[in-house]
Amino acid sequence: MLNDIERVLISEEELARKVSEAADAINRDFAGKEPVIVSVLRGSFVFMADLVRKLNMKCTIEFITASVYKNGTAPDGKPDIGRMMLPSLKGKDVLIVEDILDTGVTLHALKELLMQDEPASLKICTLMDKPSRRKADIYADYSCFEVPDEFVVGYGLDYAQKYRNLPFVGVLKPEIYE
Ligand code: XMP
Ligand code: MG
Repeated sequence: MLNDIERVLISEEELARKVSEAADAINRDFAGKEPVIVSVLRGSFVFMADLVRKLNMKCTIEFITASVYKNGTAPDGKPDIGRMMLPSLKGKDVLIVEDILDTGVTLHALKELLMQDEPASLKICTLMDKPSRRKADIYADYSCFEVPDEFVVGYGLDYAQKYRNLPFVGVLKPEIYE
């Protein structure tokens, strides 16, 4: 698996440091609240697991699915969102946890869907942000890393469902997806 990686973009140490910083900010902003943390599967599962263990308030943890990529690196249309067992968010303070904010189409659609529940507040926390690719009018309240327009894998993110278990964020060798 490591042979497929061209270079490490974000090391384990940098990930740990920035995830802690994001958790500090969330701990300050949500002090005295009991947020519902909504993880967007599958890409955010590693980030989510590290982040929530640094949160010091009572919170509940929910999951939702969203996908635009069928197998490769090109988005193929509208995001497919599954609410799974997500309870009503009416009156709740909600924090969406996502792996990467790219064109923004996914989070925009997800936010619209969850806003129909009339939460008390809704914030977004993303591990990575690729602002150069933004199409939808959406921003993250918390973002750990701004990344260039390159396809990244690891720390939860996949290429064709693989590489999610890499402990760092890396860039694949072009021959892997060409
Ligand atoms: P947008 O913001 O374009 O993002 O709706 C949709 C989803 O695309 C995935 N994504 C990536 N996945 N490496 C990945 O493994 C990437 O470089 C990348 N860029 C976008 C991600 O799951 C996001 O939720
Ligand atoms: Mg994703």
